[in-house]
Amino acid sequence: MHSALEHLLVPIRREETVIGVLLLESRESGRYTEDKLEFLSRLMDHASIAIANARLYAEVQEANKAKSDFVSFVAHELKNPMTSIRGFSDLLAQGVVGPVNENQANFLATIRSNVERMATLVTDLADVSRIEAGRLSLDFAAVEIGLVVDEVIRSLSRQIEDKKQVLDLQLPAGLPSVWGDKIRLIQVVTNLISNAYKYSPPEGRITVRAEAADNIWGEGSPRVIHLAVSDTGYGISPENQKKIFEKFYRSDDQKVRDAPGTGLGLNITKQLIELQGGKIWFESEFRVGTTFHIIVPIVETA
Ligand SMILES: Nc1ncnc2c1ncn2[C@@H]1O[C@H](COP(=O)(O)OP(=O)(O)OP(=O)(O)O)[C@@H](O)[C@H]1O
Ligand SMILES: [Mg+2]
Repeated sequence: MHSALEHLLVPIRREETVIGVLLLESRESGRYTEDKLEFLSRLMDHASIAIANARLYAEVQEANKAKSDFVSFVAHELKNPMTSIRGFSDLLAQGVVGPVNENQANFLATIRSNVERMATLVTDLADVSRIEAGRLSLDFAAVEIGLVVDEVIRSLSRQIEDKKQVLDLQLPAGLPSVWGDKIRLIQVVTNLISNAYKYSPPEGRITVRAEAADNIWGEGSPRVIHLAVSDTGYGISPENQKKIFEKFYRSDDQKVRDAPGTGLGLNITKQLIELQGGKIWFESEFRVGTTFHIIVPIVETA
């Protein structure tokens, strides 16, 4: 004959509310002793925290997705008006609708550079929210790092020349290709070189070096391309060094503040490099200069 089942219900409480119950069944009577009950109640305290965290996490995910959708929508909607502002200010500047005096030309150049900044900010915000929602897809292929650097230099060389800075490129020929997303690598290198340019005084020196190397910097691919961007700029103080990869972080150093920026560049850069199986780090000395290093996996040959 079966002995009667003995049941025990333990409430799972979160503050004053019962968010669940634990049901225990035993064929033997008298098993639920005082010390076991106490153990179960402690166990359920942990369970309640875990359940509450899981629920909060799900809510945060949901909110993150909504935020990402919203930011993508706004970014998309802002593109058309910005293209229009850019196009019409260019037409005005070219004198298409009448001669432009020097003052007007200067104003138009200011409009142009500000709309340019807005466009960058909008794409950066869209990138951050896409990365955070885990919805950034990368387009992997074999990429020549030399071509990446060429492309970046092409778009930044004028500014660098205008500031009379010296650009020293040390890229050996015949470097093996990396496995990554070319557009995103261009974005990464653009941010590093534009930081070196922005946060160095006129006549400073920017050095870009690349080498194929054994990965002595940690886990991941055994062979990597190591790229380093050095400047002779304002440097980063030890207390600020902890924060530079944070979203929207900009140093309160007046020399840094004089250059435009939103503090999103390095946050995006770090995430993009890590999504490609790489790593980023730096060393810096205040008022002496800074070097940023990245490594990216080399394409494996069978
Ligand atoms: N090469 C550098 N030398 C000195 N400080 C730097 C350098 N690179 C980055 N920093 C510091 O780190 C901060 C964050 O850099 P990050 O590239 O993320 O943002 P930003 O350049 O200010 O803006 P943007 O979003 O346009 O890139 C900078 O504002 C600056 O204080
Ligand atoms: Mg930057």
